[in-house]
Amino acid sequence: MQPDTAGSWTPVALSADLPAGTVMPAHIPAGTIALWRSESGRPAATANRCPHRGMSLSHGFVRGESLSCIYHGWSYAQAGNCIRIPAHPGLEPPETIRAKTFTVEEAGGVIWVATDEPASKPPLLDGLTPLRSMTTDAGLAAIEAAAGAKASAEGLVVPVENADTLCLLVSARDDGQTLIHLLTKGEANPAARIAASHVAENLRRAAEVLQKKEIAA
Ligand code: FES
Repeated sequence: MQPDTAGSWTPVALSADLPAGTVMPAHIPAGTIALWRSESGRPAATANRCPHRGMSLSHGFVRGESLSCIYHGWSYAQAGNCIRIPAHPGLEPPETIRAKTFTVEEAGGVIWVATDEPASKPPLLDGLTPLRSMTTDAGLAAIEAAAGAKASAEGLVVPVENADTLCLLVSARDDGQTLIHLLTKGEANPAARIAASHVAENLRRAAEVLQKKEIAA
């Protein structure tokens, strides 16, 4: 089950995991997207299918403020319009050549993507500091059972035994896995960050055991 993350917003990645000039695959309910950050630092989300011959744009590369396909090098601006076709250097690509794009917001160290026109901004995560992300084969129900707590409307699960230190921001992926962003309460010191990470690893293992039991039942 996908938590209702304040409308259509999905927390796809932590800001720290997407340096300037890079692209990575990310997951929203509609499928996989190419999540990228221009060299000037602006994040963008583009459908993961090149309009030319369908190559995954998440395999491409960022040059300046555009994303280029790895196959024949067609380049797309952050608005999705094609701006360069290397095989035809004198051609201005027609407006009709366009990759689908999604609305992106970055707040509190988290990158959020909306699948449709969002009615509001993504949830504020006041007092929480991003630590790292992890994926799990467990679904939301198993994660909630392992944590002893229900997800909030924003997709936040506060593990009952570590409520003072740790918070999980969960997001169901289209491939059946669940993405978990670990957030610490306040600015944790290095020792506290390591401890929070270990707690989260244990929770993940417990959730996966519960998930397997549910499947086997
Ligand atoms: S498939 Fe992307 S440029 Fe050809």
